[in-house]
Amino acid sequence: MQAVFGTNWKMRNLDQREAQQYLKTLADGLGGLLEDGVQVCVLPPATLLPAMSEVARKTSIRLGAQNFHWEEEGEFTGELSTELLKDAGATVLMVGHVERRVLFNENDEVINRKLLRALEEGFHAILCIGEADRSTPEARLKEELSAQLVSALRGVNEADLNRLIVAYEPHWAIGRRVDAAAPVTRVKQSAEAIRGALKTIVGTENSVRLIYGGNVNLSNCRAIASVDGIDGLFVGRAAVDPAGFVSVIERALDGATD
Ligand code: 13P
Repeated sequence: MQAVFGTNWKMRNLDQREAQQYLKTLADGLGGLLEDGVQVCVLPPATLLPAMSEVARKTSIRLGAQNFHWEEEGEFTGELSTELLKDAGATVLMVGHVERRVLFNENDEVINRKLLRALEEGFHAILCIGEADRSTPEARLKEELSAQLVSALRGVNEADLNRLIVAYEPHWAIGRRVDAAAPVTRVKQSAEAIRGALKTIVGTENSVRLIYGGNVNLSNCRAIASVDGIDGLFVGRAAVDPAGFVSVIERALDGATD
């Protein structure tokens, strides 16, 4: 399965010129890897999408949005529809990030509605799932991940699954508050649990890509990306610098082909 790498910029304040420069440096740095079919997506703040799409359209790098509304349009002050985001240059939409679940109270029902909208509108969708607690025992981990998948995937068309990317992002391993990725043993357990649950829920695990996110950096990317069933990485801080993102991708791919 083709490797896929993404970066979520969260609410970083880049201006349009800096965002364009980021993409140019990223595309130049990745060079042949993009030609070899490695898939890369960047999820900036939505206001940067139009300027960035001028650069992205000359490359195979996809742009995405971190948030959107599940309704087509209407009286939803402050929200952005999939149509607006498509027009701005997004082809990827993220759903279920822990910061949206916790800080903006997005529940399972909202996540399901958003995922259905994203896939129905032809986007690639990154669905983030993960356990809340570091000490979750393995049996409970399986139940939690499976329950999140059952709920998020309710009503999803099988034909759309090749545009679904599941991001395993344990809540306790995200961001600077914790500053440590999940250990490889936990990523392995979760990858098995997610692949097993996908088989049960949608009858196949094969067309769905699975990536890991949460404190990925140059030191741990190789080991995590080499775990069976993991197809790539979702990177926050270690991709703030485009050259750093290139290094993470190169090292991760190097490990995966050992
Ligand atoms: P960090 O890599 O900064 O922990 O963030 C990852 C993330 O939130 C990806 O969605």
